[in-house]
Amino acid sequence: MEKLVINGGRKLFGKIDISGAKNAAVAILPAAIMASQGVAVIDNIPEIEDVQCIERIIESLNCKIIKGKNSVSIDSTAINSVCANTDDVRRMRASYYLIGALLGRFKQANVALPGGCSIGVRPIDQHIKGFEALGAHVTIEHGVVSAKAEKLVGANIFFDVVSVGATINVMLAAALAEGTTVLENVAKEPHVVDVANFLNTMGANIKGAGTDVIRIVGVKELKGCNYSVIPDQIEAGTYMIAAAACGGEVEVGNIIPKHMESISAKLMEMGAEVIENEDSIIVRANGRLKGVNVKTLPYPGFPTDVQQPMTTLLSVSHGRSIVNESIWESRFKFVDELKKMGANIKVEGRTAIIDGVSQLTGAVLKATDLRAGAAMVIAGLMAEGVTEVTCIDHVDRGYPHIEEKFKMLGADIRRVKTEDC
Ligand code: EPZ
Repeated sequence: MEKLVINGGRKLFGKIDISGAKNAAVAILPAAIMASQGVAVIDNIPEIEDVQCIERIIESLNCKIIKGKNSVSIDSTAINSVCANTDDVRRMRASYYLIGALLGRFKQANVALPGGCSIGVRPIDQHIKGFEALGAHVTIEHGVVSAKAEKLVGANIFFDVVSVGATINVMLAAALAEGTTVLENVAKEPHVVDVANFLNTMGANIKGAGTDVIRIVGVKELKGCNYSVIPDQIEAGTYMIAAAACGGEVEVGNIIPKHMESISAKLMEMGAEVIENEDSIIVRANGRLKGVNVKTLPYPGFPTDVQQPMTTLLSVSHGRSIVNESIWESRFKFVDELKKMGANIKVEGRTAIIDGVSQLTGAVLKATDLRAGAAMVIAGLMAEGVTEVTCIDHVDRGYPHIEEKFKMLGADIRRVKTEDC
């Protein structure tokens, strides 16, 4: 076990580069196993535990994986199993993409129900609705989702909720179905577009990703290709918020500024200076910012995955802020940890009412989930005194080398071994 020890109160200065997007990579890697010919070489892969986990799962299906520095090549021509039922599969959320990928290629998949962060009820009814509409028979028994079809046939599917996972999963299966599939009320997140682009590079025929309607003309087979994963919108947002919280001047590099618009706009509304360059954003701040109201929404709205860092920043901003979490009902659990540092936050259901205090004070905190962990690191960086963040295995699932990146910005942060957690 490891923890992060942070000596807070330093301003942040300098430049860091953002890694490849976790939520794109963990979908693109399962999508790669749909290639029945050739090798998929994927670049800009983030060095995080969730990626390693999905790589182990893919290897267990008899895919050959060669790892390079931030890249991976996957040869899935000799895949010999449609069953994924290991602890790794049960541990992470994105393992559910194996259902769509295996069903698409082999018309059969037996995959254990996924795990992931404990942030609310996480049903997969929309994934199942999509697979069934394509002609699959889907059952769940003994914790395993089994999907089987004689053949998959394109269909019109209107999702009841906007779901990243269901959009991608059904898109995977439909890429190798017979005929045309039209998906409506789909998610428009940058990683949805990235997965569609990857599938198209493998030979799929998908149009409309990034809009409300995706149209997929099924093809007979997919082939290996070279591809580079987009930068991580959420990692970038986390560092932008950290810069605004600690003060100073930080250039967040290797990003697509367009993906950051909802976050940039909120930071500017709060009084931070945000300068957009071609592939980087500079955030400048000095002193306490102004409290604002935030509502999390599907893209292009304010992302739920940076709600916790944002709530942390608002805990020291002037006046009252209201944060409404419309995606995950349990994403305010971390607020109890912030209260140990002196934050004044009242949570009522999906709403947090934040009365900004002038400063947080260091404390021992437990990361309760991935983004909560990142939020606690930000809290520690801006607090007076020493903060310890335990259970950072949650943070390592999604943030590559977090302490090294913050050190490059001048933070006093180190990783130490611990018995806790
Ligand atoms: C993805 O989760 C991300 N995970 C999450 O990021 C992110 O918070 C979420 O999308 C929303 O942006 C990955 O990409 C691996 P959803 P996902 O299906 O796909 C409801 C992080 O911190 N819903 O878009 O599981 C659901 O309950 C993680 O990196 C159904 O009702 O989320 C939720 O309220 C955490 N039925 C809403 O839709 C379904 O079948 C959005 O969920 C599916 C979802």
